[in-house]
Amino acid sequence: MPDLRHHEIAEADHRILNPFADAKLMLLGEVARLGPATRILDLACGKGEMLCRWAERFGSSGHGVDLSEVFLAAARERMRELDVAARVTFEQGDAGRYRAEPGSYDVVACLGATWIGGGLAGTIELMRPALAPGGLLLVGEPYWTEEPPEAAYEALGCAPEDFASLPGTLERFEAAGTELVEMVLADPDDWDRYIASQWWTIHEWLKRNPGHPEAAAMREFAHVARRSHLAYGRRYLGWGVFVLRSEPA
Ligand SMILES: C[S@@+](CC[C@H](N)C(=O)[O-])C[C@H]1O[C@@H](n2cnc3c(N)ncnc32)[C@H](O)[C@@H]1O
Repeated sequence: MPDLRHHEIAEADHRILNPFADAKLMLLGEVARLGPATRILDLACGKGEMLCRWAERFGSSGHGVDLSEVFLAAARERMRELDVAARVTFEQGDAGRYRAEPGSYDVVACLGATWIGGGLAGTIELMRPALAPGGLLLVGEPYWTEEPPEAAYEALGCAPEDFASLPGTLERFEAAGTELVEMVLADPDDWDRYIASQWWTIHEWLKRNPGHPEAAAMREFAHVARRSHLAYGRRYLGWGVFVLRSEPA
């Protein structure tokens, strides 16, 4: 798991903690055919932007679970700002251990945190029990756009087998017994909005907090993030949200 405190600082100005712009989040809600009756469980919900915006736009309801009290405070503020407190709730906890009432959600989502189940297959398994018959799983996951050079793995902090190509990712979904029925993919500009905007946030934070105990670590975080994104991430790493049926047709 990435160092949470560093992400709380680096992503202080973000609403969506993934390479996804608001328009793609809304497109995802459309392709998932959300409506006022849709109940959503969002595991590792971050600042709750997805649940709040979808409740506002589609009238859906939802519950979000996240480890970070910092992100959850932002989620509750956003919930009040968008006036969706009657439909959206949040709780602090380890999403890998969270047990919802079986079959109680139409959509179970995990966007950008498949380490909660020890990888893609394990996370799909822990998402499944909460899903009502005919429901959807939404999984946000990186993939390799092309095979990266060996040096990319260390720079990006991952192992070759952590992610697959797009067809390889499809095989992983099928091996997990799901059917891929839709997807919304990020592009390199979305990655820039997610990653490059953190450089600005960290720069400003360092100016305000020069003597902070985490200052050296944050300087290093930005140093590594800039180089890994420009050398490898932007070219070799894709990201998308994959819409899955847990019972193939
Ligand atoms: C890449 S962010 C994605 C957040 C959100 N899904 C979004 O798209 O904006 C990963 C999130 O996982 C949360 N997280 C990490 N490990 C977790 C765990 N074991 N249980 C719950 N949340 C976790 C972090 O606090 C962070 O909010």
